[in-house]
Amino acid sequence: MSVQLSVEAIQSRLSSASIGHRILYLPSVNSTMDVARREAEQGAPEGTVVVADEQTAGRGRFGRHWVSGSGQNLLFSVVLYPEQTALAGLNIIASVAALTAIQRTTALSPTLKWPNDILIAGKKMSGILIETAVQDGGVRYAVLGFGINVNFDPSQTPEIAESGTSLSKELGKQVSREALLEAILEELSTLYERLKAWATVRHRWEASLETLGSHVRVQWGDQVEEGVAEAVDPDGNLLLRRSDGTVVTLSGGDVASQG
Ligand code: BTN
Repeated sequence: MSVQLSVEAIQSRLSSASIGHRILYLPSVNSTMDVARREAEQGAPEGTVVVADEQTAGRGRFGRHWVSGSGQNLLFSVVLYPEQTALAGLNIIASVAALTAIQRTTALSPTLKWPNDILIAGKKMSGILIETAVQDGGVRYAVLGFGINVNFDPSQTPEIAESGTSLSKELGKQVSREALLEAILEELSTLYERLKAWATVRHRWEASLETLGSHVRVQWGDQVEEGVAEAVDPDGNLLLRRSDGTVVTLSGGDVASQG
């Protein structure tokens, strides 16, 4: 059974949230990723959500096909304009937002398969796809795509009959797509605000590192490395390019500039 979503109600409840204050609900699209990317190219507000009842060319990671019954599942993409330093966190917040919302609305206890598949009893019920557009070393936009098997019976679809499951299959009853969509967007808004705040701190730290670009000598205990301090990785480790061209990752040490 397919129940229409009332996105106006969700939008109005999320009107002051950073995500979900604008929702485009379409009956059928090729992929919500493509519609969201077009929206981003046209400068749509951050937090715009594109949700569809059906996708004719839904895609997963590594160019795989994403299968879904029409009007039964959640298929949506979110437009964001994150700083470069927030990119590494998007996958984590998207996974945790979906996981927490599923727990909140169904009382099921799903787990994650790295990096972002959501499983119940070892079977996949949700996948997340993140696509980014970059230009001149900066991020133009990122699109987070969520595919969640809600009221769908995967046993009717040979590709996922063995490996997939859905919330209704696990619970033995239908689940409100609307309540789940709202819960995910709410969780995602909260986590995205925290990620942005952290990314600003991280950006300030990195922008102030006068070490970057200089030739340095790093000593810890009786070990020494020399080279050009090229960059820092998402965990804050220093990436040092040695004179032979190789790069070493340093998590600590005393740094002295070599002029
Ligand atoms: C995966 O596990 O491979 C990720 C699957 C992501 C599927 C969703 S469905 C909504 C959005 N539109 C798409 O075409 N893909 C994502």
